[in-house]
Amino acid sequence: MQIKSIENVEIKNKRVLLRTDFNVPLKGNKIQDDFKITRAIPTIKMLLQNGNQIIIVSHLGRPEGKRVKSMSLAPVAKYLSNELKEIKVKFIFDKLSLGLVKRIKSLDDRVILLENMRYEKGEDKNDLKLAKLLSCCADVFVNEAFAACHRTMASMVAITKFLPSYAGLNLAHEYKYLIKSLNPLKPAIAIIGGSKIETKINFIKKLSKIYDAVLIGGGLANTLLSARRYEVGVSLYDKDYIKLAKTLLRLNNVVIPMDVVISDSRMLKARVADVGKNKSLCTKQEKILDIGSKTMKHYSDFIRAAKFIIWNGPMGLFEQKKFSHGTMVIAKAIGARAKGRAIGIAGGGETLYAIDMARSGKYYDFISGGGGAMLEFMEGKVLPGIKPLLIKNNLKT
Ligand code: 3PG
Repeated sequence: MQIKSIENVEIKNKRVLLRTDFNVPLKGNKIQDDFKITRAIPTIKMLLQNGNQIIIVSHLGRPEGKRVKSMSLAPVAKYLSNELKEIKVKFIFDKLSLGLVKRIKSLDDRVILLENMRYEKGEDKNDLKLAKLLSCCADVFVNEAFAACHRTMASMVAITKFLPSYAGLNLAHEYKYLIKSLNPLKPAIAIIGGSKIETKINFIKKLSKIYDAVLIGGGLANTLLSARRYEVGVSLYDKDYIKLAKTLLRLNNVVIPMDVVISDSRMLKARVADVGKNKSLCTKQEKILDIGSKTMKHYSDFIRAAKFIIWNGPMGLFEQKKFSHGTMVIAKAIGARAKGRAIGIAGGGETLYAIDMARSGKYYDFISGGGGAMLEFMEGKVLPGIKPLLIKNNLKT
């Protein structure tokens, strides 16, 4: 199914309500990572070039209908003004009301950013009244918030009942690549790391059906090793999911590490141990913090043979240099194959950070901005934010 994108329709001289995901990490007023903001810029620029006025809405954090000062979008307005250079972003912090809608309509600022939509009680409830009120600000709705498309929010889902709705450039791009990864070129491999098996179990199961191999690392691998009765000491793993982990071990294309880097609890000394017959892999005080060199080679061999590679989640505690090698090897090995011999895509916050550390981002075919949204999409779910954009109808605005 195709997505209705602003690329395929003429939106000119309109008032556009643009839903972004500006849910950025903040330290005080300082934005720690601008990835989500920069991803929305091409859509903002395109809409501006076509003479549109843009009213941007987003959420930040989870204030649950309350006005929590530390979750204000004010720092984002300032940041966006700097990015857009000659265009000053008008920030509106008032609560949404008929009066405010009237005021917004009287403004001639090219870009307006409304305060955190989750300050409004109806946002998380996908409230129709809130969506209707919001829709009165604009003629057209554009969704450029892929990373939030797994959430059913008023400014994301209910709003599409009131305005002609389209995907922004980045959302359409995400859709195109993630659809490809549900039907990948073969041989296809998935590399899945990170910590929480609970959030990734369905993802792994789904991928094991359509990919030739699913290579596991990070805390997920520790849970699988524990399910195989290896002693994992004080490693990061999900004790409560051992039973579920066993169901993954029964899938014959799920691959677990053949060796691991183990450290004492204070992470001062490191040693490598084979995952072999000896079940006492760690002592009770030790922890697994990376995949070992044999596993790095083994996983790299899979990467070299693949025509399609998808990666989500680090292989170990990559934030610390001595435990970063497994993750860096994977980041670089995919970068070396992608954009040519294979299609290489990645997603998830920590994965993006690791790819940045390895300076490999420019070699990837696509890097998804969605964490939870990417996982749910890949599980085969039609995301609530995307569903209304898939309906094929008259593309005129
Ligand atoms: C995200 O950062 O994953 C999205 O913005 C969704 O945020 P949420 O998990 O608070 O709904």
